[in-house]
Amino acid sequence: MNETRQIKIFDTTLRDGEQSPGCSMNVQEKLRLARQLDRLGVDILEAGFPIASEGDFAAVQTIARTFDRPVIAALARASEHDITLAWKALKDAAHPRIHIFLATSEIHLQHKLRISQQQCLEQARRAVALAKTFCDDIEFSPEDATRTEPEFLFEILETVIAEGATTVNIPDTVGYAIPHEYAQLLTNIQKTVRGANVVTISTHCHNDLGLAVANSLAGVNAGARQIECTINGIGERAGNAALEEIVMAMQVRADYYGVETNIQSSELFPASQMLAEITGVQVQPNKAIVGRNAFAHEAGIHQDGMLKNALTYEIMTPASVGVPESRLVLGKHSGRHALSLRCAALGYELDRRELDDVYRKFVVLADEIKTVQDHHLEAMLRELNRTQRPALVKKPQAVKSPALAAAASTSGSKKGSRFTTGKPTVDVVARPTDRHREHEDYLWGV
Ligand code: KIV
Ligand code: ZN
Repeated sequence: MNETRQIKIFDTTLRDGEQSPGCSMNVQEKLRLARQLDRLGVDILEAGFPIASEGDFAAVQTIARTFDRPVIAALARASEHDITLAWKALKDAAHPRIHIFLATSEIHLQHKLRISQQQCLEQARRAVALAKTFCDDIEFSPEDATRTEPEFLFEILETVIAEGATTVNIPDTVGYAIPHEYAQLLTNIQKTVRGANVVTISTHCHNDLGLAVANSLAGVNAGARQIECTINGIGERAGNAALEEIVMAMQVRADYYGVETNIQSSELFPASQMLAEITGVQVQPNKAIVGRNAFAHEAGIHQDGMLKNALTYEIMTPASVGVPESRLVLGKHSGRHALSLRCAALGYELDRRELDDVYRKFVVLADEIKTVQDHHLEAMLRELNRTQRPALVKKPQAVKSPALAAAASTSGSKKGSRFTTGKPTVDVVARPTDRHREHEDYLWGV
């Protein structure tokens, strides 16, 4: 029987993520986020780049001294000074890792480092040998690997493995790779590089073409056992591969990937929120997994499906990623079903004709203001009450099903409001009236 492959999650939010404009963090902020990353269950936590600043050195040192479970990594260039300093910051960690990088592509060697391939090879060898005198766990990253001549890449990987590197990371530094090509590169490394079978092969993908997550997952299919990624996908330029997307792709599609991680997925949303709060950089609303709209439904047909069975439009539960609940947003695409439930949650039970009246006004308003809030609805309902049906307001009601709670939570629903107190009486699939005819079923959603 095939054993499920374990994929290690290497979080670099505090290092590569922090390199994102506007995302730098001080020691206390890094420590606070590190606690959440620990709760999340990341296997390796890259705490910083000690040579970059005194603050980063202090952050790595503090984190190294605080956490017993995860491996704590620190980044270093392939130089004696960087490596020695990285070790100084790391040495009190229960599980330290020195992460050395050196560019290997011709364009970086010629224009940035101004060294030959031979010099690069020698520098990498010496760097790993030095780091190995400090600790066992050494990661080597050939920067810009995906634009490096494959033969040279294989040679340098073979060299650092022979010196004792235990993880070799394959960075797509400029987000240039295509999934199929990236997977092929990893396959070729495993076929060609002596010693590749005894080390951990890692992915590290940037998002310049929006392919960072796809490339990382292609890497997993090609045998990678570690993925480097960041919360909310923050990082240089277009960012790094988003941790939450990678983890949930492997979890929701476990049937396809057949791998496991140690991540507590219900800590994903809290981690995302905490990062946004610390950096002040908000998550785009439609961001997969953690965006404000990731579990929000506005279209009437979708809302109708959701209210009948959430599996119709959600492939994972909000709770599985730590999002409090699904939201049914009342906008111009919403249908009568969600509207009637929202009115019921506000204490108004409408018959079909009343619902039609409110619906017509609602659509006009939604067209104008995009999202209709509870107070707008209440004003409409009061107006209807005044002009058409003096006894419209029924007994106060509360919400009993989670889906209805979602409908009830669209916005601004105040606890203890006169309409939402009292006994739960409304069921999720309850139709507003028995007169509702079967042939209208389809229209109910629109
Ligand atoms: O993108 C990159 O190449 C890096 C390395 C330092 C691993 O972040
Ligand atoms: Zn990077």
